Amino acid sequence: MAQPMNVFFIFTLIVISITSSSSTDDHQAYIVHMDKSMMPSPFSNHHHWYTSVLSSLSDEVPATHLYTYYHVMDGFSAVLTMSQLKQLQKMPAHLATFEEKLGQLHTTRTPTFLGLKKEAGLWPVSGFGEDMIIGIFDTGIWPESKSFHDEGMPEAPSRWRGKCEAKGFCNKKLIGARSFSQGMKHLKEKISKTDDYDSPRDFDGHGTHTSSTAAGSHVQFANYFGYANGTATGIAPKAQLAMYKVLFFNDSSEAAATDTLAGMDQAIEDGVDLMSLSLGFPDTPFYQNPIAIGAFAAMEKGILVSCSAGNSGPLAYTVHNAAPWITTVGAGTVDRDFVAYVTPGDQSYGTLIGKSVFPKNLLVEKVHIYYGYGNRSKESCAYKSLDPKDVKGKYIFCEFDDALSLIELETKGAAGAIISSDLGNLLFADYFTFPFVVLERKLGKLLKKYIINTKNASINVKYGETLLGVKPAPQVAYFSSRGPSRRSPWILKPDILAPGFDILAAWAPNRKSAQIGDDYLFSDFKLESGTSMACPHVVGVAALLKSTHRDWSPAAIRSAMMTTADIRDNNEDIIIDMITSKPGTSLDYGAGLVNPNKAMDPGLVYDIQPEDYINYLCAMGYTPHEIRIISKTPEVNCANATLDLNYPSFILILNNTNTTRCTFQRTLTNVGMSSCSYRAEVNTPPSGMNVVVKPSMIFFEGKYSTAKFEVIVDVDISGATRIKGGYFGNSAYLSWLEVNGHHVVRSPIVSAFDASS
Ligand SMILES: *[C@@H]1O[C@H](CO)[C@@H](O)[C@H](O)[C@H]1NC(C)=O
Ligand SMILES: *[C@@H]1O[C@H](CO)[C@@H](O)[C@H](O)[C@H]1NC(C)=O
Ligand SMILES: *[C@@H]1O[C@H](CO)[C@@H](O)[C@H](O)[C@H]1NC(C)=O
Ligand SMILES: *[C@@H]1O[C@H](CO)[C@@H](O)[C@H](O)[C@H]1NC(C)=O
Ligand SMILES: *[C@@H]1O[C@H](CO)[C@@H](O)[C@H](O)[C@H]1NC(C)=O
Ligand SMILES: *[C@@H]1O[C@H](CO)[C@@H](O)[C@H](O)[C@H]1NC(C)=O
Ligand SMILES: *[C@@H]1O[C@H](CO)[C@@H](O)[C@H](O)[C@H]1NC(C)=O
Repeated sequence: MAQPMNVFFIFTLIVISITSSSSTDDHQAYIVHMDKSMMPSPFSNHHHWYTSVLSSLSDEVPATHLYTYYHVMDGFSAVLTMSQLKQLQKMPAHLATFEEKLGQLHTTRTPTFLGLKKEAGLWPVSGFGEDMIIGIFDTGIWPESKSFHDEGMPEAPSRWRGKCEAKGFCNKKLIGARSFSQGMKHLKEKISKTDDYDSPRDFDGHGTHTSSTAAGSHVQFANYFGYANGTATGIAPKAQLAMYKVLFFNDSSEAAATDTLAGMDQAIEDGVDLMSLSLGFPDTPFYQNPIAIGAFAAMEKGILVSCSAGNSGPLAYTVHNAAPWITTVGAGTVDRDFVAYVTPGDQSYGTLIGKSVFPKNLLVEKVHIYYGYGNRSKESCAYKSLDPKDVKGKYIFCEFDDALSLIELETKGAAGAIISSDLGNLLFADYFTFPFVVLERKLGKLLKKYIINTKNASINVKYGETLLGVKPAPQVAYFSSRGPSRRSPWILKPDILAPGFDILAAWAPNRKSAQIGDDYLFSDFKLESGTSMACPHVVGVAALLKSTHRDWSPAAIRSAMMTTADIRDNNEDIIIDMITSKPGTSLDYGAGLVNPNKAMDPGLVYDIQPEDYINYLCAMGYTPHEIRIISKTPEVNCANATLDLNYPSFILILNNTNTTRCTFQRTLTNVGMSSCSYRAEVNTPPSGMNVVVKPSMIFFEGKYSTAKFEVIVDVDISGATRIKGGYFGNSAYLSWLEVNGHHVVRSPIVSAFDASS
């Protein structure tokens, strides 16, 4: 993994690469959309037609076919010269061509934190996700990991058409494993046989981590060098996994668009029930984005697609994978801290607890602590200013609150460091490559007092402790990408928050899992952070829900998760933003932290049909031709264009005038058993926002009956200050409260400027 430059680049996942493959010769890979209806009758199938088209293109080198796509789009990918591309583009059946692109990764106690219990709730009701197949699109999988043992697992369902490309890879837990590298192999300079396995085996570790998070089997005493010791389990422990390896390693893991489309195409053919993608492509219109295109086809087949929101936070307009038919997942912290105990030589100071994930269960006794004697400037710990002879064998004491100093800290031969800083909680496990502890400033001040007042100050340090039940949790991880979406701001994204900070899950055992100095350490489990880690939590919950409610559409499952999500943390306060410690808004955490047990029984859902998404694309200004590339429908009719999807959240995009009004039309479907009625309640709109719900009471006959209502939101921004890159005020909430019942169906309402304002 590349060495991060500063704390905002720490994550191993999600950042999207802007690189498109620019070969020096004019020979490169393209994705070609074709009009299937124009296939000449002599051809028995599309694959033959496409290969025949390719062989008819003349040039010095023949065109090379990469993949034929059957489900995600009508067309193929191929390596073409410029001249061949021009010949192809002249054919009447040619619809559109896009260049190859590269996507990148968006870098266990979590089931308990999410409230999942063996005895009651969604776990037992869903049979722990039994009979659900989750397709994971990632760096491959380490099949021998204990997390993929198949004890107690049933056979693969008879409807399953997938397979294992590698011998001995699969069992009743891992029922499919394939690898898609044609596109990546063409980018010669981008792939090396020695730098990855040319098989579904995981070279990076990431795919093993995400797979075990979604549906790993129980593993006792899983831990990261002693931290987080306990039973590791996936969110849907009885669901089955199919790995579609589309990411290959070269400094970092990258995915080619052609390979990603091929993996999603195959997964639809194989019969997965859900898909999880912890990666993203450059921010382009949906019809150029392979994940958006593949996810549309999946959605039409009833397959829920969960994607990471990206690790480009905390600024606004950074959310990725924001197509409205995708479930977009942000990352939060969990109620767990990894700490060390620091005890000053003078007992009256007590024991100070600070953050440390140093990968060794170490007890350091009576070590001297050095505090820039002779130069106690703030910078006294910067690597330039330390003299090795002053600090050898000692602990150094440093104070700073800028993340860069934290990361650039060098000990110059010191035995370790105690850092006084309020930024300790932002550090990932990977940063603890030498023994150091970060004390919050108020504790740091106390230690400093001891050092200054003591001649031969010394401390004891005990590493390797895990605290549970830490409050407040969750907090929105600072790196988690935030809304609104740049290209599609009229749908609130991200949709939901899930754990994504210091998540323990399985890892490739031959891949560095920690480091002390220059020594690499290896482990079967690793702590990782990123929206990449959050995404498989949500696909796991969705598998549990789908296993319980076979007839729910992907939109209904997402609605159930969103309308029951928690907006309060374990202190009963609104979820805070980790970096500002201020209450977040739904542009940070969507509808809130996913709550599986409540999602099992949401009362009502906001459902969406495939044609509704097409009406949204029409209103976004896409041409019928562009929409066809996504939907594959030859006749796109935009007569009912609207930006107002039947979504379980509301976002009003402000005009450049002081007042904006927006009317939202919604339809709720009763998924409860009996007739019922609900009354609307609107909570805490920010000043300047007024919300009216009509009617304010709705009635349902029985299961699947529907009711319509509208929400009129007026916002007046005169005198208001813009906060945080276009956000305006806190989130309001519309809750439908069941009369004489317990269901609460809650949706966030927020207003924001679009990215151009
Ligand atoms: C990895 O990628 C870099 C930058 O794209 C390239 O220069 C290098 O040759 C690649 N390495 C291999 C082994 O392909
Ligand atoms: C994990 O916990 C178990 C049971 O409490 C214990 O036996 C084991 O030594 C622990 N492992 C580590 C590495 O701390
Ligand atoms: C103290 O350290 C700072 C930062 O390294 C340096 O600029 C300054 O000159 C030092 N002062 C003395 C007295 O050494
Ligand atoms: C300081 O500690 C060192 C090492 O433990 C010891 O040799 C020395 O005598 C101590 N000095 C005082 C003043 O306590
Ligand atoms: C537009 O909506 C109306 C009313 O729901 C419906 O009858 C009509 O078929 C729709 N038209 C298209 C092109 O979807
Ligand atoms: C504000 O924008 C909406 C579209 O978002 C438009 O329908 C409305 O007319 C605009 N209102 C004003 C006052 O410009
Ligand atoms: C908008 O509000 C500002 C005060 O924030 C006021 O100065 C301005 O006159 C208002 N503009 C209009 C068109 O009302």
